[in-house]
Amino acid sequence: MTPHLFVLFGATGDLAAKKLFPALYRSFGDASGVRVLGVGRSDWDDAKIQDEAAGALVESGIEESDARAWADKTLTYARVEAYDELGPVFDRADEIEASGETEGNRAYYLALPPSTFPGTITALGDHEADNDRAPNEDGHQEGGWTRLVIEKPFGSDLESARELNAVVHEHFREKQVYRIDHFLGKETVQNLLVFRFANAMFESLWSRSHVEAVEIVVAETNDAEGRAGYFDGVGTMRDMIQNHLTQLFALTAMEPPARLDADGIRREKTKVLTSTRAASPEHAVYGQYGAGEGKEAYAEHEGVDADSKTETFAAVQLHVDNWRWQGVPFTLRTGKRLKERLTEIIVTFRRPPVSLFNSAKDGCEPSPNVLRIRLQPDEGFRLSFDVKAPGSGFSTSTQHFDFDYADAFGDPPDAYETLLRDVASGDTTLFVHAEEAEQAWRIYEPLLNADMTPEAYATGTWGPQEAERLGFTLDPATPYSD
Ligand code: BG6
Repeated sequence: MTPHLFVLFGATGDLAAKKLFPALYRSFGDASGVRVLGVGRSDWDDAKIQDEAAGALVESGIEESDARAWADKTLTYARVEAYDELGPVFDRADEIEASGETEGNRAYYLALPPSTFPGTITALGDHEADNDRAPNEDGHQEGGWTRLVIEKPFGSDLESARELNAVVHEHFREKQVYRIDHFLGKETVQNLLVFRFANAMFESLWSRSHVEAVEIVVAETNDAEGRAGYFDGVGTMRDMIQNHLTQLFALTAMEPPARLDADGIRREKTKVLTSTRAASPEHAVYGQYGAGEGKEAYAEHEGVDADSKTETFAAVQLHVDNWRWQGVPFTLRTGKRLKERLTEIIVTFRRPPVSLFNSAKDGCEPSPNVLRIRLQPDEGFRLSFDVKAPGSGFSTSTQHFDFDYADAFGDPPDAYETLLRDVASGDTTLFVHAEEAEQAWRIYEPLLNADMTPEAYATGTWGPQEAERLGFTLDPATPYSD
């Protein structure tokens, strides 16, 4: 593993404890030459961050003695007054680097409130320039590399994303920038590429000639309680649809890349996003969870206005104006406090041109073939097909082929582990390109600018009834059962 100093801005926050410390331990636990400098405004010191991180590792299932040993060996802390006054960070970083252990390589990871991004990026960029660390045209940097990792959300609309990209590019080359969408680190999301481009069987059917509709569902059972400070100003469109679901959509709809590298893949994702028509309010439904299962409604959470119009559910239909997908609806749907936690891409194929058979179940036409790619939980896929039901005549019955990822390979690693390793090795394939981020915002501009009123839905349901008008492939009342 490449030695480096991992400078974690936002080290006292939730993401650090829940995801980043465990991922750092699992990715670099055994590596020598990887040190972590936590940065925050809280009055912590080295001992405190070591305690907190060790506690977080134990929470995530790591042995206490291993957790303790790693935290004590690896972690230090720098306190700042503000995220654009980084003197204490650079002093501490220089001190750690003096040993030569990290070989002058630095990854700056911004797990911060988005409002602080421009100030922090500018302060980091100025420091790089003052210390002659700016890379040349080929990206080569004297005395070690610098990489900038930016957590989502990257902007809050097209204009702010453009402004943020301008700040980033004023100080860093695109090759140094790693915009995180942690869904891209999920093993099963990457498997979409293999599934599509290593199996000619599916790829030859993957177009308007054979596909009737595609649905992308990310159903969550968690809620926004305790996160209202972040979530209420953001909502599901910005928290989930613009990034996670749009990435799943792009990987599903993109053309085969010329090469399997960062340029090849990100170019194709950007291209399909560019071909995607701007979403319209008539083809979108917002929802907000009410009370249920003994829990209070969204509008009753601490920090949320009783008349808040923030959406906790959104369904949006997209259309791609290109040769492959013209006329095929892609429906994206996600919400909190839904009935089950589940992420699926559902591809419904066209029926045969002439129907010769009746379905044994209801006496009507056989079902279309449906491919359900399950990304979480129980990763795998299921392909449905019709067979002859036993008995006289030719009635059909729908059956499935199933593939279960965990049965074949065991549980996949956490997304953040994969992404942190990629930052260390300098691979931007699983990170979002500047132009891709802007295109993803452009698609949703009409919705972000419209006055959308969320429909109420009860906790533990599949979301507002109104969403049915977008014509889901599967009955929204029981979408995931057999
Ligand atoms: C985060 C969102 O980016 O992704 C959360 O801010 C959401 O609201 C989470 O719950 C979902 O990620 P995962 O990996 O738990 O499916």
